[in-house]
Formats: sequence, structure tokens, C-alpha cells
Amino acid sequence: TILKIAIIFAAYLLGSIPTSVWVGKIFYGVDVRDHGSGNAGATNTIRVLGLLPGIFVFIVDVLKGYLAVRLLYLTDFYIPKTGMFINFQLFLGIAALLGHIFPIFAQFRGGKGVAVLSGVVFALHPYATLIVFGIWTVSVIITKYVSLSSMIAGFSFPLVLIFIYRTSNPSLIIFAFALAILMLFTHQKNIERLIKGEESKFSLKKKGKI
Ligand code: G3P
Repeated sequence: TILKIAIIFAAYLLGSIPTSVWVGKIFYGVDVRDHGSGNAGATNTIRVLGLLPGIFVFIVDVLKGYLAVRLLYLTDFYIPKTGMFINFQLFLGIAALLGHIFPIFAQFRGGKGVAVLSGVVFALHPYATLIVFGIWTVSVIITKYVSLSSMIAGFSFPLVLIFIYRTSNPSLIIFAFALAILMLFTHQKNIERLIKGEESKFSLKKKGKI
């Protein structure tokens, strides 16, 4: 059990690595949280610093979620096709997400968890994740809102699991819905801006420090 707790804490620490904040501070002398939407994530990094650093942040943040779930293989608890297996993976995913949203290395002011969640769900169900990524991409192209598309993607994941993959693992379905709801919480300010018609539309070009 101590080993389990230590590994969950390791997943939290991995999630806590504030990629966008460090990339901004080290290479540009800028804290991305002081500009744009104020979010410590890939979208705001593209907005403030540009496409390349934004893509880098996205990839590293996806890897944080993916590797956190894969840390499980270091434990003795890997028993294929049992509830135990999937449940512990879910805890690792949640720990990494909470690390990203409340990072111990960046004053507990982190991001919204979209990229990290993508990595977590890719580790759990890669095919469903690719379908959801398709839905997210189409939504960004149509609406131009990353935040709205991310929330739609969040709810698409459990629905794809249920209706396309006929998943019957209740813990996975509950986990997927709970995280979709978590995405609503982390996007509260975006929801307010969307309602007011003030949400910024996605563009591949940086807007710079705003
Ligand atoms: O990456 C999170 C995204 O859904 C919204 O980010 O910076 O537009 O608030 P942002």
C-alpha cells in the first residue's frame, strides 16, 4: 500500500511539471499566466508565445498524463483484465490531472487539464481517444473555440466508450464522466466568456503579450 501511495504521489508530481510556465520563463522571460487567458496550457502558449512552443507544451503535457498512467507497470499490482488493474490506472490519471491543475512547482496555479487528460485517456483507450480527437478537431474548425471544443470532447469520451465500444466497465465510465464534469469546472471562466460572446477564437498565429 505504501508503494501504491508513493506511485500515486509520483503521478501527481509528474502532472505538476508546469511545462508552459517553465517554457515561457526560461526561453522567453514571460509567465504565460500573466497574459492572454492567463491559463498555464498549450492553447495560451500558442496565443502568447507562438505555435512552436505551444505544440511543445501540448506534447509534453500529453506525455505527463500518458506516462502517469503507464507508471503502473512499475508496481506489483498489474493483474490484466481485473478491476484492480483499471482502478489503479484511474487513480494515477486523476493524480496527474490534479498535479497539472494544482502544480506544487508553480504556486498551485496550473492549467485546465485538457492535454493531460488526452494523454490519460489515450493510455486507457487509444482508439476511442482518436475518435474524440477527431470530434475535437472538427469542433475547433467549426466553432473556433478551443475551450468549447475541449468540453465537448470531454463528454464525447464516455459516450464513445458506451455507444461505439460498448464498454461495460462501470469504473471507467464513471471516471470518464467525472473528468468531463471536472473540465466544466476548470473552464468556468471560458463558459462565462462564451455566454457573453467574449471568448477568444483560436488562431495559429500568436497574439503576443496581451
Ligand atoms: O487548453 C485549455 C483550453 O480548453 C482553453 O484554454 O487558454 O483558451 O482558456 P484557454
